[in-house]
Amino acid sequence: MTKMNIGIIGTGFIAKILAPQIQSSNKARLAAVSSRTLAKAEKFVANYPGAVAVEGADQLIARDDVDAVYVATPTAAKEDVASRALAAGKQVLIEKPLHSAESFKRLSALAREKGLVLMDATHFVHHPRTAAMRERLADLIGAPRSLHTMFYFPFSDRENIRFDPTNEPMGAVGDMGWYSMRAVVEYLAPNTLEDIKVFAERDPQSGAVIRSTGVLKFDAGKTATFDVGYTAGAAVMDLTVAGTSGILTQDDFVLDWHSGFGFDNPDIQTGFVHRSGMATRNEFAFIETPSERSQHALMIDNFADLIRNGDAAEREIWLSATEKTQVFLDAIWQEIQTQARAVPGTDPSSKK
Ligand SMILES: NC(=O)c1ccc[n+]([C@@H]2O[C@H](COP(=O)([O-])OP(=O)(O)OC[C@H]3O[C@@H](n4cnc5c(N)ncnc54)[C@H](OP(=O)(O)O)[C@@H]3O)[C@@H](O)[C@H]2O)c1
Repeated sequence: MTKMNIGIIGTGFIAKILAPQIQSSNKARLAAVSSRTLAKAEKFVANYPGAVAVEGADQLIARDDVDAVYVATPTAAKEDVASRALAAGKQVLIEKPLHSAESFKRLSALAREKGLVLMDATHFVHHPRTAAMRERLADLIGAPRSLHTMFYFPFSDRENIRFDPTNEPMGAVGDMGWYSMRAVVEYLAPNTLEDIKVFAERDPQSGAVIRSTGVLKFDAGKTATFDVGYTAGAAVMDLTVAGTSGILTQDDFVLDWHSGFGFDNPDIQTGFVHRSGMATRNEFAFIETPSERSQHALMIDNFADLIRNGDAAEREIWLSATEKTQVFLDAIWQEIQTQARAVPGTDPSSKK
């Protein structure tokens, strides 16, 4: 099988995580890496024989030996870079979150027009656990009614883009809340948002949102609560989906403890827990969903497959999930901004 030639735009934290997965894939190879500073790209590719270092995204996009680009830049730069890649006929894997649903809609319209893949880089949806839980959900818990997620990791580096509202306007909401909203899309599958209440805490120095919690009410009586941020002092990735006849839980819904990047615990099985009725902890059932490959490696494979199979209907499924996730994220963000405007002096966007 001919491997898909992928170029990476950006040389930061997540680019370094994904590069080895691209290079070791049976379906893709790392063809090129671009940086705004050539020396950084050269240093990056030193570990990847055959990969070329280039200066600037445009040079990478212009290369004939690049079929697809992975956009690993801060959110503020994503639409600009991705739209230029799509316009040039390149398939695009883009980091989450997007700047806004409107921004994503412009990109997806371009991808449709060109018949290209546009996929967001959420890893957990590629783990077989996600499909297994979706398939068995109705059988195990009836109709899903409410979903709760809690996602924190301790983080306080003010030099990082997470504390830079210019580059990452939504802060922890965009970074962590993205996964909460994607879980809503995957497991609760609501159609429309009817009501929302959100609380946000900002870093006093940078103005970046560092914690947020809230509740969303959807159609058909479905509800979701979320609690995300950098301030809890411990990593937590809890998910609970409650249905009319049972409950499913995961304690590692974003990055599985087994081999999600950041973790490497071969002894910890990946799966989900089912309970119903008055079951006590001894009676909870752990449903194992093993995977030979990590969820971020599977994401690269699935991206390459989606390009290769040319299936427009399948491309739409991915576009739809991304758009819905971003629409719910935007609603959270709008609520936070509305509150900030109502309390003079708390809206960082007014401190220009
Ligand atoms: N899917 C995941 O699991 C995951 C995990 C972490 C982060 N992310 C997302 O990925 C994005 C990047 O996060 P990160 O932690 O990798 O950030 P990072 O370490 O700051 O890396 C971003 C890179 O983008 C390039 N860059 C910076 N500003 C740019 C600009 N204005 N225009 C073009 N390129 C620019 C820089 O590379 P050069 O200096 O070489 O150009 C920089 O190293 C964020 O939106 C974040 O939410 C996703």
